Amino acid sequence: MRLRGAVTLVTGGSSGIGAATARVLARAGARLLIAGRDPARLDAVARDTGALALKADLAEPQGPAELAEAALQMAATDADAPGIDILINNAGVGWCGPIGEMTGDKIAEILAVNLAAPIELTRRLLPRMTARGSGRIVFVSSIVGATSVRDEAVYSAAKAGLGNFAESLAHELEGSGVGVSVIVPGVINTPFFEHRGRPYGRKKPEPLPAEQAAEAIRSALEHDRQMVYVPRWMSFPARLHGAAPRTFAVLAHWFGDHGLAGPPGCPLARARPQSPQRKPSAGNRAPRDRCEGPVRLPSPAHEALRPPNWPVTGGRPVRGPSPTYSTSRKL
Ligand SMILES: NC(=O)c1ccc[n+]([C@@H]2O[C@H](COP(=O)([O-])OP(=O)(O)OC[C@H]3O[C@@H](n4cnc5c(N)ncnc54)[C@H](OP(=O)(O)O)[C@@H]3O)[C@@H](O)[C@H]2O)c1
Repeated sequence: MRLRGAVTLVTGGSSGIGAATARVLARAGARLLIAGRDPARLDAVARDTGALALKADLAEPQGPAELAEAALQMAATDADAPGIDILINNAGVGWCGPIGEMTGDKIAEILAVNLAAPIELTRRLLPRMTARGSGRIVFVSSIVGATSVRDEAVYSAAKAGLGNFAESLAHELEGSGVGVSVIVPGVINTPFFEHRGRPYGRKKPEPLPAEQAAEAIRSALEHDRQMVYVPRWMSFPARLHGAAPRTFAVLAHWFGDHGLAGPPGCPLARARPQSPQRKPSAGNRAPRDRCEGPVRLPSPAHEALRPPNWPVTGGRPVRGPSPTYSTSRKL
């Protein structure tokens, strides 16, 4: 897909991967709308990129609908921008710890921001893309959505749901001219861990710069890629998990400490968490150390999907209006 002139909405554009993506896409000539909650950080990214900033709380029941409406209104005020060409569903929030320690509100927030909001934004922004026969929707998932990870059950479930939604959507959109991309980051050096309240405590894998994830998004857009892992080797544990879950569980048990439970009835599950032979336990290891782990991934059906070639969007280079925190400016 051609990025120059493409009207692009990036959620979670105020921080981390979203902010880096805004910078990368601005350099590629996209016309940006960025959304987030924090006005100061949103404004700083908008200033750097010439983006228009939209304040939106995607955990609120009306948050996604209001954001979609504001984005469409902005596009409608510009004769050269009849709609949103690219939607990047990047906003996300994590939580790490036993499920019993989560509040109902936190569960609702994680499901809303990571899963329900991308679905609702897609529902509202997709029709104009399909009507024009062009566009792309990107979902920023996570390696923990591709495998089962201890102490991140709700976040994992939300990201796994997002991946399945994206896969189903890609089937639905075959031949429509609108493509779907899923980005599967491993560990990225962003304030994500600080925001979730538990720092990243493992030595390996080392966190990658946010720019690497942003480049993966640019590449997925430019080359109509359906699934991109960051880093690329993350596809290996993902494929292994999909093809041979028990082997994956054994290897994960040996090489990691993410506490995979294994499938019901799996002898590995009995041998693991409370096993006396199991050295690392809650007693001698900080809980934060267990919160990140490997992957699962593309089912054969998913890999078989091929995004159709669809027309490029025309347009013009990014304009650099002095960005202010507003939803009423023209794009
Ligand atoms: N960092 C990693 O290692 C990693 C790994 C795998 C996947 N991911 C995924 O990558 C995506 C980006 O995360 P990141 O690493 O860049 O984390 P981050 O720096 O914490 O950024 C998260 C973004 O999401 C926005 N957000 C959070 N809650 C929101 C809400 N209720 N309403 C609207 N926006 C909200 C934040 O906006 P405000 O700050 O303005 O509230 C922020 O812009 C997420 O989907 C995350 O799950 C990250």
